[in-house]
Amino acid sequence: MKESAPLRIPLIAGNWKMFKTAAEARETVGQLIQLTADIKNKNIDIMIAPPFTSLAAVAELIQDSGIDLGAQNLHWAKEGAFTGEISAAMLVDAGCKFVIVGHSERRQYFGETDDTVNRKLQAASLAGLIPVLCVGETETQRDEKKTFSVLDKQIENGLKELNFDAQHPLVVAYEPVWAIGTGKTATPDQVQEVHFYLRQRIEKIMGNVLAKATRILYGGSVKPDNVKELMVLPDVDGALVGGASLQAGSFSKIIHF
Ligand code: PGA
Repeated sequence: MKESAPLRIPLIAGNWKMFKTAAEARETVGQLIQLTADIKNKNIDIMIAPPFTSLAAVAELIQDSGIDLGAQNLHWAKEGAFTGEISAAMLVDAGCKFVIVGHSERRQYFGETDDTVNRKLQAASLAGLIPVLCVGETETQRDEKKTFSVLDKQIENGLKELNFDAQHPLVVAYEPVWAIGTGKTATPDQVQEVHFYLRQRIEKIMGNVLAKATRILYGGSVKPDNVKELMVLPDVDGALVGGASLQAGSFSKIIHF
């Protein structure tokens, strides 16, 4: 483990987005359990976030496997007339430990804002789920040198008036929008620069202890052949993997970085 990260167990998370039926999910998870049996109980956390319709199937298979379940979204209300939505309690009931909040695809295509992200983080945390808060700039914002102001806004508004501690941990994922699904990974220098910056922002908002304990994942075209150079960076505590998490073989290689 990296010297600078004594409290942070690496987390390798797979975001399956809108891929796989329950039968397909079962097949992939079955293979993944076999391929990762050698690192069970080692100092690494593994999470899979399948579509809602596969949560039950995956939950059943991963019992005692060392793999945790995550969801890709939630609603902030406890319950109510919100057609098509899923509450935090429902995710807990389905076996989830994690939930991804504010993924750029949700911000881009489904009108998610820092305000809804903030409410979702609160609901997740109160229900005992570990939220994975996604932040990141677009290519234009980077070109216009707005990366850090965009991240400031997402972090400050997203975390507004929230309390996280050992009982209510938080994971942050830095996912530059221009690197998601494009095959263009941010360079190690770009990644470390942003992760270091994010940890400082988190420290300003929530204090040193929490900033040190918060895992900051990198996401955006993480593959078996680039995961290592990212994971050695002092402020990178894991990866949020889309495309390469869909096949057990490539996801297992990433987990074995
Ligand atoms: P990608 O997706 O690995 O396919 O780039 C990452 C993500 O969207 O979480």
